[in-house]
Amino acid sequence: MTEKSSEMSDGELIEKNLAQLRLKPNLQGYDGLRRTFKWGDAEELVDWFPDGQINSVYNVIDRHALGERKDKAALIYDDGNGNVQKITFLEMYRETNKFANVLVKLGIKRQDRVFVFLQRSKELYVSFLGTIKAGAIASPMFPAFGPDAIRDRLLDSGAVALVTSSELAKRVYPIKEQLPDLKHIIVVDDADANAGEVSYQVEMESSAEDFETVPMDPEEYQFMLYTSGTTGKPKGVVHAHKGIVQQTLTSKWVLDLHDEDVYWCTADLGWVTGVVYGCLGPWSCGVTQVGLGGRFDPDLWYRSIQNHKVTVWYTAPTAVRMLMAKGDDLPAKYDLSSLRALYSVGEPLNPEGVKWALEVFDNKPFHDTWWQTETGSILITNFPEMPIKPGSMGKPLPGIEAEIVDEEGNVLPQGEEGNLVIRPGWPSMMREIWKNESKYNEYMRNGWYYTGDTAMIDDDGYFWYVGRADDVIKTSGERVGPFEVESALIEHDAVAEAGVIGKPDQLRGNIIKAFIVLTPGHAESEELKKDIQKFVKSRLAGHAYPREIDVVKTLPKTRSGKIMRRLLRAKELGLPIGDTSTLED
Ligand code: PRX
Repeated sequence: MTEKSSEMSDGELIEKNLAQLRLKPNLQGYDGLRRTFKWGDAEELVDWFPDGQINSVYNVIDRHALGERKDKAALIYDDGNGNVQKITFLEMYRETNKFANVLVKLGIKRQDRVFVFLQRSKELYVSFLGTIKAGAIASPMFPAFGPDAIRDRLLDSGAVALVTSSELAKRVYPIKEQLPDLKHIIVVDDADANAGEVSYQVEMESSAEDFETVPMDPEEYQFMLYTSGTTGKPKGVVHAHKGIVQQTLTSKWVLDLHDEDVYWCTADLGWVTGVVYGCLGPWSCGVTQVGLGGRFDPDLWYRSIQNHKVTVWYTAPTAVRMLMAKGDDLPAKYDLSSLRALYSVGEPLNPEGVKWALEVFDNKPFHDTWWQTETGSILITNFPEMPIKPGSMGKPLPGIEAEIVDEEGNVLPQGEEGNLVIRPGWPSMMREIWKNESKYNEYMRNGWYYTGDTAMIDDDGYFWYVGRADDVIKTSGERVGPFEVESALIEHDAVAEAGVIGKPDQLRGNIIKAFIVLTPGHAESEELKKDIQKFVKSRLAGHAYPREIDVVKTLPKTRSGKIMRRLLRAKELGLPIGDTSTLED
């Protein structure tokens, strides 16, 4: 189906023989569609209530449960230990209805914030979707978060309810007193919930299976996710119900989902990829999705493709590099012939990864996709009908105007590196940064949405990722703000000051590196560094701790006292130091 090239290099095209593809791509005639497509056309892909109202979850679950797909498996949940549960659209409909009724009984109101802090499980999907059905705003949290990360999110959003497990709740108790708005803790696995807590099991048992999914204004919010920037604590990126239009369209056009597909997205629901393409978009297309519990494990992953006969697979470059590092004997032990296409997101997909997939998965194309928490769906990609340019992010979705501009918003000539910007107004674009208008406005300059990424466009119109224009760190594809890590570091007794950067890493894309100044009375030692690492891990998250720590006497600062991470990075990487006129001394 694809032509394998033995000397593939950056910029070389992997041609596809379209006549031999197992399924005809949903999007055909890209160039024409770029000229003629209107967002109104995509609105026909979803169902609307009278008067132009909508609920994303009506589209994701209800319309299939009330139609021909009612007995089709929506979810194949595999707990990673050999226990597999198939849940039909009808069952998902009933369960999400019941959960919506539980929230109504608790007095949760329209657009209240309900957070879901769970490992991957049926309850995770049910409570996330049930919340949106009920008209509240759902926000899933990554299960590796520690107390500080949890507190920042629940406090900023004024969350009134939290759905969690008895295990994860232990990380909430230390900070519970700091959350005046949090009225309800719903515990999924504990029939005898602690005093003041709600038992999911008990409430669900007595809850009615009927619920009228609440018709929402398309601009009302369906979910929010906290993400990191250069400065300050994580910010709440809020998405409207109307986003489902584009989330559905891209699941069709980019992931190319067909009714007979079995689709697996490896991202956790705590990240936008898990929410949009591990839940909303593919189900809106009525496709069966695999949900795999447990941790990353090459054996388990290959087995999951084999056992569930996965046809379309969406994953991340770090995972691919980890699989590659395990060698090709392992995948050869499994029957992976069900696969027909692969997709990746979160960091650049190396040409070696594309090439590896061709070899290991019998010539299956690996498509890079580019997007962000803020964009709400894929905006740039190597489309199924197009030749793939390994190393490139691909081309903009029809309806998306993407350019490379300078700081003044002037469009730069092809081939020049600059800021990747998008013309605002696409349906799944974030609607606000929760209670932080000035942060939102920072993205919007010169009539463009500035993505924070730098990129360039080549002669064929393919986009190439260059890097971040800011200090945001992408480690294993996960987005970490240096300020959050610095804040956690200086809470440690031995740390007086801290500066944090991303350091390029073969496997993880980047690792987090910290430069710290010790408080008087503390001496540098490996033991101390380990203790500091453990401290940050336990407060923030397992992935957000510095893998490397350098003890320094002073940190470079501006005259106003801001740590110059740019200088730390330049020094670490042996780069030119650049303008130092604002340096303290
Ligand atoms: O820097 C880009 C990188 O991930 C950032 C967005 O991170 P997040 O909001 O966590 O969302 C990730 C999953 C949607 C971008 O600003 N990024 C995302 N996709 C790519 C990428 N970098 C290079 N290539 C990609 N395909």
